[in-house]
Amino acid sequence: MNVLLTGGLGYIGSHTCVELLNAGHQAVIADNLSNSRVTVLDSIEKITGKRPKFYEIDVCDRDAVERVFSENEIDAVIHFAGLKAVGESCRIPLRYYRNNLDTTLTLLETMGKHGCTRLVFSSSATVYGPNNPVPYFEEMPANLATNPYGWTKAMIEQILRDHCAANPGFTAVLLRYFNPVGSHESGLIGDDPNGIPNNLMPYIARVAGGQLQLLTVFGDDYDTPDGTCLRDYLHVVDLAKGHLCALDYAAEHVGAEAINLGTGKPVSVLELLHAFIRVNGVDVPYVIGGRRDGDLPASYANAEKAERLLHWKAEKSVEDMCRDSWSFILNHTN
Ligand code: NAD
Ligand code: UD1
Repeated sequence: MNVLLTGGLGYIGSHTCVELLNAGHQAVIADNLSNSRVTVLDSIEKITGKRPKFYEIDVCDRDAVERVFSENEIDAVIHFAGLKAVGESCRIPLRYYRNNLDTTLTLLETMGKHGCTRLVFSSSATVYGPNNPVPYFEEMPANLATNPYGWTKAMIEQILRDHCAANPGFTAVLLRYFNPVGSHESGLIGDDPNGIPNNLMPYIARVAGGQLQLLTVFGDDYDTPDGTCLRDYLHVVDLAKGHLCALDYAAEHVGAEAINLGTGKPVSVLELLHAFIRVNGVDVPYVIGGRRDGDLPASYANAEKAERLLHWKAEKSVEDMCRDSWSFILNHTN
């Protein structure tokens, strides 16, 4: 299969590209490098022995996307391209709506012109909003986001459902990711956010590596077993493999289908932190601070639908996640 990966040089896209190439598929990447580096192509080539075709383009640019489709026979698209920083999306919401919605619309229109009918979309557990009880099931209301980033995901899901309803041969798999962490075991690709990370695992890894001084645990007075928040951390290589299963599913089904990709196992902030310290034999100084605005006490998946429809199940442990996150930092700082 020849698969177009928009945003394919980013964290999740690059890992998915590796799995696709290792499985014998071809990959074409379209990325504007707004949150990634072109050197990721070298890393992908080092890991797989193959270099994907690369277009440095903005996926909002119709002519550029048209060029990708006219120069390549694209069988399916995985749409990763998007902006993802929650805090920034509150400060500059229009940038998020423009980028995330426009890339999707441009892609759908161009796919339509070229008769490409299979799309896998990077959605997020954030669409479950603040009111659903855990664990989250796909059938729950998923249309109450709490920030502009989350709204773009909820809106795009609706756009894709409408598009599928109007185009009966079209398939859109809406993958609702929980908390991707870790990196490829080579340590060559990983989560490399610009500036100070917002997310827990990259923050822990940078404190362990000495680039940041101290981790603040945001609140230990939640109604959870140890008082810190519960999340569904998922190894990015497991997540990447889920996309291959989604492509197989899309080849045999039509319509829009939302599917959680998570482990279904809640892990607290302190559990993740102590696992990281134990597995890697490093020190991670931390203090307990106040709650972070907008944080939910618990967010984790019911992961049965992915198993049933995609025949996918997360396999890697919290220890694997901690070890591989650290090996990326070691590789990167050296
Ligand atoms: P990332 O920022 O590492 O990758 C996104 C890539 O898209 C980057 O390489 C960026 O340069 C590119 N991009 C952004 N806008 C573009 C545009 N207009 N044209 C071309 N390229 C563009 O993010 P990621 O963590 O790999 O996330 C991939 C997708 O998964 C995103 O849509 C994100 O919202 C979604 N997601 C991520 C998480 C997470 O925790 N990482 C959780 C849920 C959902
Ligand atoms: C955050 C986003 C969410 C997004 C997800 C992507 C917010 C409010 N939510 O979710 O929309 O989809 O990232 O993966 O930004 N923590 C600390 N100290 C830190 C960093 C985090 O204690 O320095 C805690 C948080 O309070 C949270 C947990 O670690 O309880 C996980 O945080 P994070 O990695 O940011 O993920 P989410 O909160 O799930």
